[in-house]
Amino acid sequence: MSEKKLVEEKIKKLAEKYSSTGQDLTSYLEGLLYADYLSYWDYINLDTLLTLQVPKTDFPDENIFIIYHQITELYFKLIINELEQISNNGRNIQKNGKDLGWNKELTFDFFKSRMIRIIRYFENLINSFDIMIEGMSRDEFIKFRMSLLPGSGFQSVQFRTIELYATPVKNLLINDSKTSNTKNIIQNIYWSKGATELKSGKKTYTLTQFQKKYNEPLNSLIINLKGKTIWEKFKQLKTTKKEKEELSELLKKFDFYVNVKWKLSHFKSAVKHLKKMGVKKATGGTNWEKYLPPRFQKIIFFSKLWTKKEKEKWGISWLKD
Ligand code: HEM
Repeated sequence: MSEKKLVEEKIKKLAEKYSSTGQDLTSYLEGLLYADYLSYWDYINLDTLLTLQVPKTDFPDENIFIIYHQITELYFKLIINELEQISNNGRNIQKNGKDLGWNKELTFDFFKSRMIRIIRYFENLINSFDIMIEGMSRDEFIKFRMSLLPGSGFQSVQFRTIELYATPVKNLLINDSKTSNTKNIIQNIYWSKGATELKSGKKTYTLTQFQKKYNEPLNSLIINLKGKTIWEKFKQLKTTKKEKEELSELLKKFDFYVNVKWKLSHFKSAVKHLKKMGVKKATGGTNWEKYLPPRFQKIIFFSKLWTKKEKEKWGISWLKD
């Protein structure tokens, strides 16, 4: 097709696009005459992005601490982007670019490909945690950390969102399902019992601040996700036996990566930087040594996929390795 013909065809399609919403193509074409070209820095908002690192002290390594947390939160955002799509059965985008909303049914291929992406993101996070463990001066950390109290990664709402997308909330409760029908279910999630003061057992300020800001939106999320968590989507999916097995393996990997590997890499950083400081210092006084290890938490998203023995050894064998 000649260049002229191609242009004519595109113009015809554009005219259809604009007239379908009662708009005028010629006005848009005129706008194009004056519009600037898109640059890389504008597209990714580079200037703004680089203003978002605001250390509280002059220690150079505080930048590493801030930026690595930000990187992690961006990965969490990518993960939630995938979880949300699985939960809603995947966006139906037609070849002509039209967005037809969510699909009626989730397909095996979509579920599988998105689980692979999620696992890849977690893999990157786990493999990069050494930036916190080896790549940051402990001497500087123990000083600048005192200026950041009582803030803590514990307050990462995106991490909590990932957990709530993964599994029905009853699997995140401290004392199992007894309390799962109560209105205040969120008060019984394991993390609410985790950040308690070592001596008194009272809630830490780190926790109460988090609850004040996020309990309501997280409660709404729990309600919206009823019947739509990853576990429930997996159970509802119509598959062959082989496909089910393939997905089970991916779900187990996801479970293991979040609740054992990531948590242990993170715990390692706490041990390296906080152990000698005394438990109370630099944490807002939480019981982190008893709270953080996966073998104590025993949070398992997809309990039915693991054997009794595997569950008993949760967080122990990998630690030995
Ligand atoms: C030197 C690096 C780090 C240290 C020493 C550290 C320390 C801690 C401690 C002591 C806790 C328990 C709550 C508290 O007392 O504040 C905690 C919880 C947590 N931190 Fe970190 N952290 C580090 C890096 C990170 C990073 C990079 C992230 C990424 C967002 C993060 C996310 C979390 C999360 C999600 C929890 C809650 C974990 C759970 O509930 O099992 N932390 N951290």
